[in-house]
Amino acid sequence: MQDKQRKTRKMNIKPITDPSRPKVYIETYGCQMNMNDSEVILSILQDAGYALTEDIGQADVILANTCSIRDNAEQRIWGRIDQFRLQKRRRDGVIIGIVGCMAERLKEKLLDGHTVDLVAGPDAYRSLPDLIRQISPDKPQINVLLSHEETYADISPVRMDRNGVSAYISIMRGCNNVCSYCVVPYTRGAERSRDPQSIVREAVELFENGYREVCLLGQNVDSYLWKHPDSADKNVNFAQLLEMVAKVSPDLRVRFSTSYPKDISDEVIYTMAMYENICRHIHLPVQSGSNTMLEKMRRKYNREWYLEKVGKIRSVMPDCGISTDVIAGFCGETEQDHKDTVSLMEAVGFDSAFMFQYSERPGTLAARKYPDDVPPEVKTARLNEIIALQNRLSLESNTKEVGKRHKVLIEGTSKRNEEEFTGRTSNNKVCVFAAPGHKPGDYVEVEVLSCTSATLIAKLI
Ligand code: SAH
Ligand code: SF4
Ligand code: F3S
Repeated sequence: MQDKQRKTRKMNIKPITDPSRPKVYIETYGCQMNMNDSEVILSILQDAGYALTEDIGQADVILANTCSIRDNAEQRIWGRIDQFRLQKRRRDGVIIGIVGCMAERLKEKLLDGHTVDLVAGPDAYRSLPDLIRQISPDKPQINVLLSHEETYADISPVRMDRNGVSAYISIMRGCNNVCSYCVVPYTRGAERSRDPQSIVREAVELFENGYREVCLLGQNVDSYLWKHPDSADKNVNFAQLLEMVAKVSPDLRVRFSTSYPKDISDEVIYTMAMYENICRHIHLPVQSGSNTMLEKMRRKYNREWYLEKVGKIRSVMPDCGISTDVIAGFCGETEQDHKDTVSLMEAVGFDSAFMFQYSERPGTLAARKYPDDVPPEVKTARLNEIIALQNRLSLESNTKEVGKRHKVLIEGTSKRNEEEFTGRTSNNKVCVFAAPGHKPGDYVEVEVLSCTSATLIAKLI
């Protein structure tokens, strides 16, 4: 059935803008996987006759694809729902839908107050056209069933990024790691891997349409495992998948995210080293440098193990960029635990980091088991300290690049100066440079002249 669909499905890369079609407006919050899901949603709705609009005032259907990872992410969305209400007051018949992780977490609760007409969880997107059809003013629709199989493998996402150069490809969904602070296993369900052939086909399709970089996405890409229906010898793990995608073309760059420190294998590291077009960058979220915190977080590795993994990566690829995520102020975090995080960050010298204050999520193991007892002002002070530290580490890391040459893929024009381009080095550093005669999608060689903590300033060579 799916194979048949695949053969008849036209390539679906660009948004349809036909003015005679009903219009859908999509706002996306949260992680890259959610960005990619919005592209899947658009593909499904386009096939059902809708066209995308970027003007909320023109929309027949307004969708917010939402995130629940921290309380402030949800608060922002509640604010937006109030604004959507204004659209409903101005125009009769406008449909407001909440989809994604917050839809899955809050379910019927989102229907209280009668603003929202539609609630759909991350595994329910195929049912969106039917749900929308069945909505009437006093009949909101909801589908928050999670699936063990759904990977949307046969759906070719409509690219909304519009740089036309780099695209996300989801290779798996859900997560089986129950980190005690994290809501994702509850909002996205169990882990499942997508058919590797469909992933390679999507990469080929993107390359043929001018894309030059794909980022393979999963909450824990290193646990990707496609189980062959007939023979375990034909199973495909993440290192093998990485190689299959790298072989699409030497001119297609491959990135991936996120690597769970416990699961990234030597095979993955060696595969990266073997292919020039697999970018030298690993996002390796550590969360904390304290073994007490890591254990309470249920991260399944400790500080020593993490540092050893970083050592292994650098011994095989000395030029590999390493970035991380850090949580400040987790339950019971002492000043010494915090100092352990600071010293680990110094010891690794991360190239960049996303840093957050712990936010208790209802229903998680931490919420049930540990009091959220670090006072807010202490969380803020610790977060500020690690942000300041990371700024220094990022500047140090960028300063090491001055005078070096890099191959950069041009992704677009610089926001500050239209005469200049931006792109990234293989090790994921943002570069700005002038390159007359070139265009997004071209590879260029540059030399780094100077830097800030966020950007390399370079010249074409
Ligand atoms: N699967 C990825 C993380 C996805 S969530 C991994 O395991 O590395 C992205 C980041 O959000 C996490 O790495 C963590 O740093 C942060 N995060 C998750 N839950 C959080 C919470 N309850 N409070 C604060 N930050 C949180
Ligand atoms: Fe959340 Fe942990 Fe899964 Fe990452 S690995 S999504 S932090 S449960
Ligand atoms: Fe947020 Fe869901 Fe992603 S909670 S971070 S959108 S998986």
